[in-house]
Amino acid sequence: IEPNYEQLSKWAANYVAAKIKKANPTAEKPFVLGLPTGSSPLGMYKNLIELNKQGVISFQNVITFNMDEYVGLPKDHPESYHSFMWNNFFSHIDIKPENVNILNGNAANLEAECEAYEAKMKAVGGIDLFLGGIGPDGHIAFNEPGSSLASRTRVKSLTTDTIIANSRFFDNDVNKVPKTSVTVGVGTVLDAKEVLIMVNGHNKARALQQAVEGSVNQMWTITALQLHPKGIIVADEAACAEI
Ligand code: GLP
Repeated sequence: IEPNYEQLSKWAANYVAAKIKKANPTAEKPFVLGLPTGSSPLGMYKNLIELNKQGVISFQNVITFNMDEYVGLPKDHPESYHSFMWNNFFSHIDIKPENVNILNGNAANLEAECEAYEAKMKAVGGIDLFLGGIGPDGHIAFNEPGSSLASRTRVKSLTTDTIIANSRFFDNDVNKVPKTSVTVGVGTVLDAKEVLIMVNGHNKARALQQAVEGSVNQMWTITALQLHPKGIIVADEAACAEI
């Protein structure tokens, strides 16, 4: 538990940096990161950019896989997760573009796209560290309430709650929010060697309470983290209000 969002973001960035440094990745043995979008990880990305600029860490031998993407939103739409990641992170660090993996929400065959994504993760040796945030309903990636805890990368429709929550990025107009996504599954996240979830703000307090004090169940998909031997949550004080 960190006192505020600023400290939480610093803690998460330092944790990621220490992991990459310790792994001392090479082209033959890269470090594989799973990455989220959303407002929760923004502060961490800013800190990581700074650490990269200062030469504390390098992303030259880091491979990334993003958690999810909207279906049908043009890749260059300002709210696509592709745009989000390049604008807020990748364009500012020394990562090799060919090492960046983001699901293509415009693929002609979305099922094949999801299968290929899982295969690629496997081919590089699996995810070393999966970073994430959660929705106010406790969803992880786009694994909405009711998602199987064994789910893999697939097409997932968004709940009304998520469409409303995300409408803030689409001129507060729910009609502009895509209704479908492609997302890694809960099982995909649990396969990572380590998982680090960032939770901040009062509106996540109920979800965090379920995550740590609730029983493992598919209506709050973040509760699956309890099954992971190295599942870490870093939260600010506000998010801990219900614990
Ligand atoms: C979306 C994303 C999630 C993210 C959630 C919370 O639903 N698919 O990966 O955790 O939003 O976003 P924020 O961090 O902006 O609250």
